[in-house]
Amino acid sequence: MTAMNAPQPITVTVTGAGGQIGYAALFRIASGAMFGADQPVALRLLEIPQGVKGAEGAALELIDGAFPLLASIDISTTPDEGFAGTNVALLVGSRPRTAGMERADLLAANGAIFGPQGRAINEHAADDVRVLVVGNPANTNALIAQRNAPDVPAERFTALTRLDHNRAVGLLAERAGARVADISGVTIWGNHSTTQYPDLSHATISGRAALDVVGETWGRGAYIERVANRGAEIIEVRGGSSVASAANAAIDHVRDWALGTGEAWTSVSLPSTGAYGIPEGLIASVPAHAVDGGWRVVEGLEIDAFSRAKIDASVAELAAERDQVAAMGLIPAE
Ligand code: NAD
Ligand code: LMR
Repeated sequence: MTAMNAPQPITVTVTGAGGQIGYAALFRIASGAMFGADQPVALRLLEIPQGVKGAEGAALELIDGAFPLLASIDISTTPDEGFAGTNVALLVGSRPRTAGMERADLLAANGAIFGPQGRAINEHAADDVRVLVVGNPANTNALIAQRNAPDVPAERFTALTRLDHNRAVGLLAERAGARVADISGVTIWGNHSTTQYPDLSHATISGRAALDVVGETWGRGAYIERVANRGAEIIEVRGGSSVASAANAAIDHVRDWALGTGEAWTSVSLPSTGAYGIPEGLIASVPAHAVDGGWRVVEGLEIDAFSRAKIDASVAELAAERDQVAAMGLIPAE
């Protein structure tokens, strides 16, 4: 009975599937964490030749997981094949930074990956394709992919700032001695970089203003620094960049996009339509609800002078990164 009524599998392509985040994400996707316990998935693992063994090893272990929802596993080394018919593309494959680097230092090494992938998505993905860029610098890599996929609606290209959002919620809960479930209204604005603005202006903890609970000195001072530099803190402590928390955030992002957020909002890097004074086209983090398979930016939040300056600084960095990749010829002229 159930087999006859089972929905068609959703095809998910994971690039860099032989790497660390790929390994942490694949098993959870196969287990149903992304689309729920009734939705089969078909996995496509896209790697470069040097990474194929890692993807093959993951595929062997996926078989050994005997996941009832896993309809198929395919491995490829060309974007054209890897994105053929894909509904959800997780663009992870790229080099991570090491201690002492900023994420933007990766633009030269990683930027060139995302143009060809954008073009392959444009040509070969399913009509409803949704794209999440994880590889750093994620926002500008997403811009490169999006600008190389002119036939795909721009709003289908997103970048991951859910990890920053989750960090902001987790660290706030720890400080306040509260439960994560009691926190709402946190926003990450801008770039997935140290200029990001974790904003507690509209956040509440069990209905009380979060800035009243934790105090403005911390909430608009050390807290912002801690969240914005958490990636570097992880690199220092672990000796390598975040993996399981990044995979978890990517799954949270796609799950919310597909299934909806309800009343709560989260933080998503989306192509700007000009809301909150963010220049049109930049892929910047904003507060958003997911409704009917699309993101809707939360409207009408009051932005005070402190927040305005923080948002503007991060957006200015995104504009500079855009100009840099335009000068490198990675995005077509407008
Ligand atoms: P990793 O080195 O373990 O794995 C990367 C994999 O990508 C490798 O297997 C490599 O062979 C593959 N790859 C490289 N170029 C490719 C291409 N053109 N096509 C397909 N695959 C390709 O790295 P990781 O720890 O998995 O991190 C991946 C990326 O995610 C890095 O850029 C890292 O900085 C970024 N990251 C982003 C966030 C975020 O919040 N946005 C969080 C953590 C990590
Ligand atoms: C993170 O935020 O953990 C990732 O972007 C990895 C990094 O380089 O910080």
